Amino acid sequence: MKCRRCRAAAVIELRRHNAAFCGPCFVHYAEQQVRKAVDEFAMFSPEERILVAVSGGKDSLGLWDVLLRLGYRADGLYLGLGIGQYSDASATYARAFAASREARLVEIDLPADYGYDIPNGSLAARRAPCSACGLSKRHLFNQAAVDGGYDVVATGHNLDDEAAVLFGNVLRWNTEYLGRQLPVLPAEHGFVRKVKPLVRLDEREMAAYCVVRGIDYIVEECPMAEGNRHLGYKEALNAVEERSPGAKAAFYFEFLAKASDLFRPLAVAGHDGGLQPCVRCGSPTTGEVCAFCSLVERAVALGPTRRAAAGGS
Ligand code: AMP
Ligand code: FES
Ligand code: ZN
Repeated sequence: MKCRRCRAAAVIELRRHNAAFCGPCFVHYAEQQVRKAVDEFAMFSPEERILVAVSGGKDSLGLWDVLLRLGYRADGLYLGLGIGQYSDASATYARAFAASREARLVEIDLPADYGYDIPNGSLAARRAPCSACGLSKRHLFNQAAVDGGYDVVATGHNLDDEAAVLFGNVLRWNTEYLGRQLPVLPAEHGFVRKVKPLVRLDEREMAAYCVVRGIDYIVEECPMAEGNRHLGYKEALNAVEERSPGAKAAFYFEFLAKASDLFRPLAVAGHDGGLQPCVRCGSPTTGEVCAFCSLVERAVALGPTRRAAAGGS
């Protein structure tokens, strides 16, 4: 197998592109894919300040690396979720990467800065851990971007993630979500712009990118996310992809090109419930106190005893 670009020995085959690449040309390919996504969806300009949410995993560290290589003004944001050993380890990878690139890493720690953690917040709010976690991330990514004067928050969601979420939403015809499932969510009502520059790259490609670039990342998945809902969807899509390479990308990108506009009005209608600033933190909310502030309040009230019972740190 030879590299499509330079004819050297290839290290990776990409069936959906009917191509193979050597290490350096694969890095070039990955950069081109990110560049293309950024341009095609007008994600950000070279002058804008980007806050990259990094979990310590392959996608977000790979994304940060690509953006720095392309010359973007990208800082990292790591959120310590207080999920025991897993959070300690992921922080180590995020910090090591930042140090190796002399890049700025903003850190927020749920236990130290807010007095709760995900196991305890999940118990207090009677939500699944991933739901309490998602709520905390959405709020704190936005807050950190506003506080730091960033123009945009970038996350490491890749093609597999987006196709799996789309698949789940289509299976249930969640029309409101379908209208909001975009690689760019523009700034509105006090929320900064959110972008997913890895939509043109899949999971395997991001793992390969990190290996070729020598980026160390946390391989374990979060221990709270048992039986991840999207895992089954990913497996189903991979089975289809195996038989028809390119099907996954077509499913997602043809949705964006041909169908997503049709659902937009439903999303706007569902989101237009009269937003006002939260009386505690000033974030836009439909109630008096936002969902994040009420989660924190209940979690802190639970106290450390229940925290230990939840199996957290
Ligand atoms: P996940 O929800 O775990 O699939 O992660 C999706 C994206 O959210 C990742 O690619 C990161 O950009 C971001 N992210 C997840 N966990 C964290 C974290 N602890 N700190 C900062 N960003 C995170
Ligand atoms: Fe959020 Fe696991 S990363 S619950
Ligand atoms: Zn609030």
